[in-house]
Amino acid sequence: MFREKIFRVIKLAVPLLMTACSLSLSSPQYSRQELDEQSATCLDCHEGYETSLAGSAHRLSSGREMKSSIVVGCISCHKGWEKHLEEPSAETVIKLGALSLIDQAEVCGDCHLTPHQQTMVTTDPHTRRNISCLDCHTVHNNPIKNLVKDAGQEFCLTCHTEVASEFHRRSNHPLQSLNIRCTDCHPVDNIKSPLLAVGHDWQCQRCHTDYAGPFLYEHPVVYTHLVNGGGCTECHESHGSPNDRLLKQPQNGTCLQCHGVPPGHRTRHSGLGARLACVDCHSEIHGSYDNKLFLDPDLGNKLFPDCYQSGCHIINQ
Ligand code: HEC
Ligand code: HEC
Ligand code: HEC
Ligand code: HEC
Ligand code: HEC
Ligand code: HEC
Ligand code: HEC
Ligand code: HEC
Ligand code: HEC
Ligand code: HEC
Repeated sequence: MFREKIFRVIKLAVPLLMTACSLSLSSPQYSRQELDEQSATCLDCHEGYETSLAGSAHRLSSGREMKSSIVVGCISCHKGWEKHLEEPSAETVIKLGALSLIDQAEVCGDCHLTPHQQTMVTTDPHTRRNISCLDCHTVHNNPIKNLVKDAGQEFCLTCHTEVASEFHRRSNHPLQSLNIRCTDCHPVDNIKSPLLAVGHDWQCQRCHTDYAGPFLYEHPVVYTHLVNGGGCTECHESHGSPNDRLLKQPQNGTCLQCHGVPPGHRTRHSGLGARLACVDCHSEIHGSYDNKLFLDPDLGNKLFPDCYQSGCHIINQ
């Protein structure tokens, strides 16, 4: 039983890998004529069902121009239909939603073989919990793009209710504005790093290009490639935070996780360095083109006149 399951996962995953870049849809099983004939039979009893697909990607082939080479009929998805036609009743129907993840993936896999489906039967964390295609997708009467189930704007939240509250914290990513979505950071088609549980700093940099670097002077913790385990989430929460700017720690706590207050900061200028926020002076915290201490290049005008010109501090050190 177990071996059979593994074999079927491989059967699904291998062609997915091979076709990933070129062709996303495999050839249909039935001729267009047979599909259209059988659809008409289904519609004799299940009147009006074609309208539940109208306007969606699965609209019946009989009702449309031959733009796509893939033709769709009721029997493309409703496996075991022969038995149901012999004896039309609730008992003879295979309920697609009740099938296992792998069985569902096979039904849809007749036409859909992209990295997304491959991920969803192998490495994705949802696979471990047997979350199947039809837990996230609905086919009939669904006007939403990508046919995802949607209760409001972000369907992932229907299950991840705990995450919803994180997006309502004092500072947060503006989910409501729709400028950012769960799948921007948790892509559902990345087999190597499913849902990007780790190594996501490049994903943040995609939108926050200002902080992507490279800088002449880098604060190594900002980048995973410079410090193992480093990256944006070393200092920032990704959903929401009770602190400003999505920071994990309030005020100077962010810096004090790793640095002590240098002794000079307590003694010079009446201890001003210890009383102000670290980022008041070290404002180029993500990296600097001017100096390796990430100091504000304008510090000499902002706080003390002439602190660079005086020769006490050298900006290009
Ligand atoms: C002779 C009439 C008849 C034909 C033809 C027919 N069905 Fe049915 N179908 C029924 C009956 C009766 C039921 C059980 C009662 C119900 O739930 O509507 C049913 C139930 C179903 C169900 C389950 C409905 C549910 O609520 O869970 C599906 C799915 C289904 N049929 C699909 C098809 C498909 C696909 C075809 C074409 C291959 C088809 N049927 C052809 C009569 C028919
Ligand atoms: C792309 C695949 C696909 C096609 C094409 C398709 N169905 Fe379905 N059908 C499903 C799935 C999946 C379900 C389970 C509920 C859902 O996701 O909407 C379903 C559910 C049903 C049900 C059960 C009642 C319900 O709405 O849940 C009936 C009846 C049905 N389909 C009839 C048809 C008929 C008749 C056709 C052709 C006009 C058809 N289906 C075409 C995938 C498909
Ligand atoms: C007979 C072939 C066929 C089968 C089987 C099939 N689909 Fe599709 N599906 C299509 C076609 C054709 C498109 C449109 C593709 C395109 O435009 O590139 C599509 C598109 C989609 C889309 C994208 C919709 C959008 O808004 O762009 C989703 C999601 C989808 N299918 C889910 C499913 C699921 C889930 C199943 C299994 C229950 C399934 N499909 C089974 C043919 C099929
Ligand atoms: C955890 C939820 C989830 C599961 C489980 C899931 N999907 Fe999806 N699917 C999505 C989302 C979200 C998108 C839209 C992708 C995006 O926004 O980047 C999508 C897009 C799609 C598309 C259109 C784009 C493409 O890559 O082909 C198809 C077809 C599809 N899914 C089929 C499936 C099939 C088949 C399964 C089961 C093997 C499945 N999905 C499982 C969430 C899911
Ligand atoms: C049908 C319910 C359901 C839907 C819809 C759903 N998830 Fe999940 N998700 C789960 C479950 C259950 C787990 C497994 C949790 C665990 O193992 O602790 C999970 C796990 C995850 C994880 C990994 C969590 C961890 O601690 O490793 C992430 C990230 C995630 N989901 C994001 C998403 C995103 C993004 C979407 C929308 C595209 C989505 N989920 C849609 C139920 C769902
Ligand atoms: C800005 C990027 C981003 C967005 C948008 C985002 N996430 Fe996350 N999410 C992450 C990162 C990064 C992690 C890993 C946790 C960490 O290291 O801080 C994570 C962790 C998770 C986890 C597992 C840990 C936990 O906090 O429970 C779940 C579940 C999750 N996200 C779901 C979602 C859902 C659902 C959405 C949409 C409502 C979403 N995420 C939107 C970046 C994001
Ligand atoms: C899809 C684009 C996108 C991605 C990916 C993204 N962000 Fe954002 N981020 C935004 C938007 C939009 C805002 C709000 C900007 C504004 O209000 O001006 C924002 C704001 C922020 C803020 C400032 C919050 C505040 O309260 O001022 C921080 C910090 C931040 N993001 C960090 C991150 C981190 C860390 C990641 C990766 C885990 C990330 N972002 C990924 C789009 C994105
Ligand atoms: C060493 C800790 C640290 C790391 C690592 C870090 N940040 Fe920040 N980030 C901060 C601090 C501190 C602030 C607040 C600065 C301030 O208040 O002037 C901030 C502010 C921000 C802001 C808001 C800027 C504004 O003016 O609104 C964004 C966006 C941001 N960071 C993105 C990122 C991204 C993307 C990464 C990863 C490439 C990252 N951060 C890595 C400490 C860090
Ligand atoms: C996760 C740990 C971590 C956090 C948090 C962190 N740093 Fe750093 N920081 C480092 C490391 C590692 C270096 C490189 C040290 C080296 O090269 O000797 C560094 C270097 C520096 C330097 C240059 C020191 C030198 O002698 O060249 C300054 C200044 C600095 N950080 C300030 C800050 C400030 C201000 C904050 C808070 C916004 C902060 N750091 C947060 C780890 C961290
Ligand atoms: C009033 C401005 C100011 C504030 C506030 C400030 N710094 Fe500095 N920091 C400097 C200057 C100027 C230097 C360079 C000292 C020199 O040239 O001798 C420096 C140097 C450093 C260095 C590297 C040199 C060393 O002595 O180790 C670190 C690390 C550092 N600061 C961390 C911090 C942290 C952590 C905070 C917050 C607790 C902080 N700074 C607050 C101005 C400031």
